[in-house]
Amino acid sequence: MFEYAPAPESRDVVDLKSSYGLFINGEFVDGSGTPFKTVNPATEETLAEVATASSDDVDRAVQAARKAFGVWSALPGAERAKYLFRIARIIQERARELAVLESLDNGKPIRESRDVDVPLVAAHFFYYAGWADKLEYAGFGSAKPLGVAGQVIPWNFPLLMLAWKIAPALACGNTVVLKPAETTPLTALLFADICRQADLPPGVVNIVTGAGETGAAVVAHPDVNKVAFTGSTEVGRIIARTVAGTGKKLTLELGGKAANIVFDDAAVDQAVEGIVNGIFFNQGHVCCAGSRLLVQESIQEELLAALKRRLGTLRLGDPLDKNTDIGAINSAEQLAKIRRLSDLGESEGAERWSPACELPGKGFWFPPTLFTGVAQSHSVAREEIFGPVLSVLTFRTPAEAVEKANNTPYGLSAGVWTEKGSRILWMADRLRAGVVWANTFNKFDPASPFGGFKESGFGREGGRHGLEAYLEV
Ligand code: NAI
Ligand code: MG
Repeated sequence: MFEYAPAPESRDVVDLKSSYGLFINGEFVDGSGTPFKTVNPATEETLAEVATASSDDVDRAVQAARKAFGVWSALPGAERAKYLFRIARIIQERARELAVLESLDNGKPIRESRDVDVPLVAAHFFYYAGWADKLEYAGFGSAKPLGVAGQVIPWNFPLLMLAWKIAPALACGNTVVLKPAETTPLTALLFADICRQADLPPGVVNIVTGAGETGAAVVAHPDVNKVAFTGSTEVGRIIARTVAGTGKKLTLELGGKAANIVFDDAAVDQAVEGIVNGIFFNQGHVCCAGSRLLVQESIQEELLAALKRRLGTLRLGDPLDKNTDIGAINSAEQLAKIRRLSDLGESEGAERWSPACELPGKGFWFPPTLFTGVAQSHSVAREEIFGPVLSVLTFRTPAEAVEKANNTPYGLSAGVWTEKGSRILWMADRLRAGVVWANTFNKFDPASPFGGFKESGFGREGGRHGLEAYLEV
């Protein structure tokens, strides 16, 4: 093993305030609820106090968005595009600040926030800026925007989920009230500052912070025309019930339990990299994480030996260190959930393994973990753990791989590893998943639609498809 000198990214680039308000009608204002603290999950240090939006505050935000809708939707698409391009460029200019703040508030490694999250956020705004004046060409005729979009997002990709929600909404001429997750509100508030810097007309984007109650107030507000949610299947169900029969348009992007399927002809080293990326990227806090490894029985031993060797080289620790591969678990609650499900896996008879790995004394941490000898009925094969925990199952034939991969209430993504192109197509035809990656995993591009089957939700984000959710078609 190599020893590396620490290479921490400086925090100085971030101007952290002690308290943050809500962003309504282009201004930062106080909230009337009790403020909450957001912490750095790697140290448990309080980063800032953040306002809680009451339902009255949410109402003010929706009214601001309604008023702004008149102005914004009347602008020619080419004018809206200019604002979106400007936002995209400012995101690039302030990329380092955004990446450091994202890693501080979320716990993800700076290598990921810097090289994946923030570049994808900018790419998303650039991409949808390009569509704003081409909606007719995109096949939507003279379709109208919906009005005010109420958007509720989770903590695993705070900025990226914001971009997925806000960019297409604005491109189509809608205005937005967005509620970030209560453990990761800070980059959304920095984004609010970027909206001001870009001179976005007041009220086009409003950010209301708070916990589930604030989210529920956004979703239930009678003057919201469209609801977009990413998060747990449980809350997705509650939201679907609230919205049912109201005429609000709804998209839900929920949980997953994706299979990463490795055939005996796959290139083992590449497959190992894909497996690691599939489940240990962002500590496994990824709805499309490849949390079930399905390996063809004949290569199980060889593949697992290579995988274990590779896991021994992963570096866990300070998210701001540029060498770090695995950062902190986002919250004490999420850590408790990962521990509970992992303990359950062990008591149900699966075999648990982690590489030698020292966990920091403070903060929320979980080592990269493998479960072998997993049966389909085990909880670790069925439930979304949303952490750095991989369950290994085996198969003998392609048909068995398909059956096992589809044996889940979810259907967001899948990975297939094989030399054979015809087998990839055969598998992709049969896998009930919104995205199928071949000989790669977790590849994202704003031009490519993303979304699920079954309990993973409905609607697509990204691509031309992503516009449809924000237009009356
Ligand atoms: P959650 O679904 O409770 O939170 C997501 C967002 O919804 C947050 O902004 C939250 O404040 C808001 N929210 C909560 N209750 C609401 C309600 N009744 N009405 C409107 N908005 C509401 O997810 P949580 O509790 O943080 O994580 C629980 C589990 O969900 C995780 O362990 C993971 O398995 C899964 N999850 C899946 C995500 C995905 O991307 N598919 C993202 C986050 C969590
Ligand atoms: Mg936090």
